[in-house]
Amino acid sequence: GTVFLNGDYVKRSGAKVDIEDRGYQFGDGIYEVVRVYNGNVFTMDEHMERLYQSADKMKLKIPFELKEFTSIVFKLIELNDVHEGIVYIQVSRGVSPRQHHFPAKDTAGSVTAYTKEFKRPVKSLDEGVTTTLVEDIRWLRCDIKSLNLLGNILAKEEAASGGHFEAIQHRGETVTEGSSSNAFMVKDGVVYTHPATNLILNGITRKVIKELADRNGVKFVEKIFTVDELLSADELFIASTTSEVMPVVKVDETVIGQGAPGPVTRKLQELFTERIE
Ligand code: PDD
Repeated sequence: GTVFLNGDYVKRSGAKVDIEDRGYQFGDGIYEVVRVYNGNVFTMDEHMERLYQSADKMKLKIPFELKEFTSIVFKLIELNDVHEGIVYIQVSRGVSPRQHHFPAKDTAGSVTAYTKEFKRPVKSLDEGVTTTLVEDIRWLRCDIKSLNLLGNILAKEEAASGGHFEAIQHRGETVTEGSSSNAFMVKDGVVYTHPATNLILNGITRKVIKELADRNGVKFVEKIFTVDELLSADELFIASTTSEVMPVVKVDETVIGQGAPGPVTRKLQELFTERIE
């Protein structure tokens, strides 16, 4: 396939980065994962906007204007003839001799992007998935979509090694989010999710679900809920660019609701599917 590397469209096999790239040495960079359905990018503007917001929050200069960067992503999708897949976009603070403080002002950020075929997880969406609870040990700026994902990786590995799809993280009693998804609870017909503070990533899928809920008479509340409330919820689901509206039927040994995707989750899934078709 063809990938984007600092201004050029090159073969994947020829795309190499410097060993002193700050993304490689420090995780000093940001990224986005964007979904392609039927050859069309889904919520492109929202993802690009969040990329530039992440950049601002960590004082990182993206070496392209938003419009130009957007057309680069479109071109990459076209060149690779992506039908159903994702685009991964990354910007690091560039290459410079290793030192913790920022490099010289004229150091250009490193920009890479590539596409990948990725089918909708229809079986899991239909049956639901199982999860495990893990303590949220991440830093206090989870609102930045940073390359530093060690906390997320350790959480996901705990889930994967236990045969689970996702780890649901909690800071003490408070449920925050998944390792690579947002977390939602349904109680008495109302959807609850952690407010978009510094403790979670403000997911684009979360935003789409909120809009769909608001427009279709489903009560959607951004309010903190506890581990106990999570475990006694009527329904649970997680959401992300690749997982969409994913029902959660079990948290460790606790069966949620009837142990099958519930009616509110199903309704949001249907609305979401209409939205992407
Ligand atoms: N993950 N929270 C975290 C920690 C995430 O990493 C993600 C996305 C989300 C959901 O965000 P969105 O709906 O915008 O995809 C929430 C991406 C897909 C990833 O790292 O692969």
